[in-house]
Amino acid sequence: MKTTISVIKADTGSVGGHNRPSDEMVAKASERVAGAIQSGLLIDARVSFTGDDIALLMTHTRGTDNSDVHKFAWDTFVETTKIAKSQGLYGAGQDLLKDAFSGNVRGMGPGSAEMEIEERAAEPFVVFAGDKCGPGVFNHPLFSCFADPYHNAGLLLAPEMHAGFTFTVMDVNHTESDRTITLKAPEDYYDLCTLLRDPNRYIIASVTENATGLIAAVASTSRLHNIAGKYVGKDDPVAIVRTQKQFPSTGEILSPWALAQYTLGDNRGSHHVAVMPVKQNTIISFFDGPTVMSAAGYCVHEGKLTGPVDYFDQPFWDVIREKATEKTLAMREQGFFNPAMGPQDEMEYTGVMENLKRLDSRFVKKEGDTAK
Ligand code: F6R
Ligand code: MG
Ligand code: MG
Repeated sequence: MKTTISVIKADTGSVGGHNRPSDEMVAKASERVAGAIQSGLLIDARVSFTGDDIALLMTHTRGTDNSDVHKFAWDTFVETTKIAKSQGLYGAGQDLLKDAFSGNVRGMGPGSAEMEIEERAAEPFVVFAGDKCGPGVFNHPLFSCFADPYHNAGLLLAPEMHAGFTFTVMDVNHTESDRTITLKAPEDYYDLCTLLRDPNRYIIASVTENATGLIAAVASTSRLHNIAGKYVGKDDPVAIVRTQKQFPSTGEILSPWALAQYTLGDNRGSHHVAVMPVKQNTIISFFDGPTVMSAAGYCVHEGKLTGPVDYFDQPFWDVIREKATEKTLAMREQGFFNPAMGPQDEMEYTGVMENLKRLDSRFVKKEGDTAK
């Protein structure tokens, strides 16, 4: 039996600004997944939130991109939107960018990460969910845990992993269709680095193991701005990563998050701040952020989930949270000056472009200046 693990998340409205869904919205999502388990659509599920995004973790046997599962998730978000509207919450239905469901949530607003696996005897995995994040926030940590022995000591110590991993990277600026490239580590190491250095355009979509071809990780790749053509909220990606044995250990997967990397997100999706690793169901606060990431561990057996283990709910991460705060404050001291505020082609709101256009006519050229 093959098991599919699907994570689909959306911001469908929140209390007190872009902050967190209401208890009633989360209860509605939980009630609906319980019904879907009862009806046999799903084997198991968990509902959580990170900032203003509700994430549905679902297991089933229908494969990835299954229209019944995607429709169920879409309808669930339509229901939570109704509650948000009835409570007068902010941004109700924010991530539901299309009026009617058409087969698959991809390209419709909600983020999704899915993998179909032949379960190992023990099948541990991690689900990451971020809020106020850039779309490529997983580039650094996935690259580091699958290709960098600084974090994945197993690349040197565990013979199973010595052959490395293959990365499928998507060019998310190509909106007409999915445009991907497949690069192998260690063979294509520098080419991989060349792309991953730009996490707003080139985004890791999946990782497979070279020795076995097994799927190791998947991440959501949607850019809401590219779907809607304007700012409608931050992309807030999710990822699923298999751990242990032939894959990096859980600790190796978590290790890169100690960097508290800078990402383009936070206030108005337009500021560079440090990613803070947080407990599941954490709210948003400072400067509409800080950008947060949660990590939950599970085991799946015949589709049944055990967990979560809330990995960032551990004293080690208190120090990293302080580090993230300090890095964010250091950048915030610089206010709107780049790179604190992002570059103009990455501005999520249109204000800067409109102001520049208006100011353009007020520029004066020096008399007699022949410079083009
Ligand atoms: C960032 C975010 C917030 C909003 C900001 C303004 O992802 O959600 O920073 O951009 O609070 O929101 P609006 O434009 O909805 O008033
Ligand atoms: Mg929101
Ligand atoms: Mg969000």
